[in-house]
Amino acid sequence: MSDFESRLSESRAFPPPESFARAARISSDGEYQRLHRLSLADPETYWAPIARELPWSKPFTEVLDWSGAPVARWFGDGELNASVACLDQHLDGPRRDKVAIHWQGEPGDRRSLTYAELSAEVNRLANALRARGVKRGDRVALYMPLVPELAAALLACARIGAAHSVVFGGFSAASLRERILDGGCTAVITADGGWRKGQVLPLKAVVDEALVGLHDVHTVLVLRRAGNEVAWSAPRDVWYHELVPSQSDACEPESMGAEDLLFLLYTSGSTGKPKGIVHTTGGYLVGAFHSMRTIFDLKEDDVYWCTADIGWITGHTYVVYGPLANGATVVLYEGAPNAPDEGRFWRIVEDYKVTIFYTAPTAIRTFMRWGDTWPKKSDLASLRLLGTVGEPINPEAWMWYREHIGQNRCPIVDTWWQTETGSAMIAPLPGVHATVPGSAMRPFFGVDAAIVDERGSEVGPNQGGFLVLRKPWPSMLRGIWGDMQRFQAGYWSRYPGMYFAGDGARRDEHGNYWILGRVDDVLNVSGHRLSTMEVESALVSHAAVVEAAVVARPDDVTGEAIVAFVTLGPGHEAGDTLTAALKAHVTREIGALARPAEIRFTQSLPKTRSGKIMRRLLRDVAAGRESTGDTSTLEDLSVLARLRKDEE
Ligand code: PRX
Repeated sequence: MSDFESRLSESRAFPPPESFARAARISSDGEYQRLHRLSLADPETYWAPIARELPWSKPFTEVLDWSGAPVARWFGDGELNASVACLDQHLDGPRRDKVAIHWQGEPGDRRSLTYAELSAEVNRLANALRARGVKRGDRVALYMPLVPELAAALLACARIGAAHSVVFGGFSAASLRERILDGGCTAVITADGGWRKGQVLPLKAVVDEALVGLHDVHTVLVLRRAGNEVAWSAPRDVWYHELVPSQSDACEPESMGAEDLLFLLYTSGSTGKPKGIVHTTGGYLVGAFHSMRTIFDLKEDDVYWCTADIGWITGHTYVVYGPLANGATVVLYEGAPNAPDEGRFWRIVEDYKVTIFYTAPTAIRTFMRWGDTWPKKSDLASLRLLGTVGEPINPEAWMWYREHIGQNRCPIVDTWWQTETGSAMIAPLPGVHATVPGSAMRPFFGVDAAIVDERGSEVGPNQGGFLVLRKPWPSMLRGIWGDMQRFQAGYWSRYPGMYFAGDGARRDEHGNYWILGRVDDVLNVSGHRLSTMEVESALVSHAAVVEAAVVARPDDVTGEAIVAFVTLGPGHEAGDTLTAALKAHVTREIGALARPAEIRFTQSLPKTRSGKIMRRLLRDVAAGRESTGDTSTLEDLSVLARLRKDEE
């Protein structure tokens, strides 16, 4: 039975344990339905009191202005500062000495910072940035390991009204450079290196390479983390430990307009150029704050661990802004799940008595492969809720997660959302919904989800279609940095007035949503987004390659794996040496996350008569399937036959 069919016939459903439901923030379906209806019919009434729970330096009087669609303004005349919402507001009561971050370094070092300590660090760092001339309206690139200073750096930027643009530490110098240039960043915060599987990732060296010839970057602030040797370029480079600790731990926050830029975060679309997704201050925070406490049923004494790197949207919203705005205790772990062995995560759960654990399906499938003896070695009794995000989760992985990590007792929230949506859009409420393995369940408050056909008409139960959101929501993206036309064209033109997410989905007869995956040229490898074009451009930038087509094939662990079909120029020979060289080339151009699993050399690629590469056919070839679709527009049928023959 195919995975799709098995999901169609999934009949298992797991209601929350009674004790969980009884104590949950929302515990009845009636209440969910009433609030969901209200949030759609009257967003002002629904969102205003929630937003007022955050500290505003100037209260808002208007909630939503959708007159400039597709750019919404939320709480548009209000002012606030995100660092005040995440830190200062907690300092007058018992949360002052509550742990904000428990951090575990990969080599075994640990630190715990209370809200008061984190706030002081953020203020010192904010003052240090100001001392280096960083000011309101600037953009700062962060390229750091997963250390408390990274969380502090986001908040320090927010404090002085500079936008952060975090670039995940696995991206290459070329990718970092492209993002620094596109965002017009004038400062970079990095570290000498970070730890991953016992090795040091030389982050500062990558920054140096990325900045060659970029004179607009006046400051590189370098945290000493791994102790590795670094090159130095004064006066641009400055050590964190030489500048930050001597700063005052008081720092006046900027009063930011709700619609002022909070951050840029780059993600892949269906072209080769990454998009700088624009998130603003007020609406984003409201979305992060409210979804965090509601979907994760957050309580004051929870210890919450989201394993995502802060370099992705999940880390922005559900490691930093969402939990801290709620005064939660978060766990951060710097390194790999199998360093020094495969029991690392479960020892962390036991050590810190983690109560809520949020990870990605690819990680869960990796744990499955390592076997259930690893989690068995640790005491996981503290866990009460599990979450997953980033790609569709197959029911077997969901069931394994439930049984071996959740011990058949913890509800699982499968949360569907995107860099663009800013916060979770479709997810069960853990005290309400009987969750079904593989389903992301129900639209969150304020989310008007629908599934439509090619023409934009809603389809019936269990019919596949395109997932759209028909109303604005507070944490929605406000655009693509420097390219509002692409924003309009990419998300709002296919179905006028509706946000087109780029995912296929279906809704079953009970109203549960099932996400079927991307319908555009976006790959999802280990929950990371990459465009086929990005990888293709990297390949054709190699001297041996004339043409490349990149597709995904299903993979048991990473969800999708990259298969590249490549045609070579004269004088270049296919073979293992070139395969290795091309994989290394893509790693250098984009980063290890884009490294193809497989490279296939071919004389020509299947194309339509108008010259478009027929990726659908290549996907069949890559997955070893017979092509069932229409091949009548294929220019040269023998190409397909040859490609298949190459396989044998
Ligand atoms: O295809 C969907 C998939 O990840 C895409 C968004 O990727 P990104 O912007 O990197 O954000 C990932 C973390 C929020 C979506 O278009 N996706 C995300 N969550 C799920 C998912 N697919 C299925 N189920 C999910 N829970």
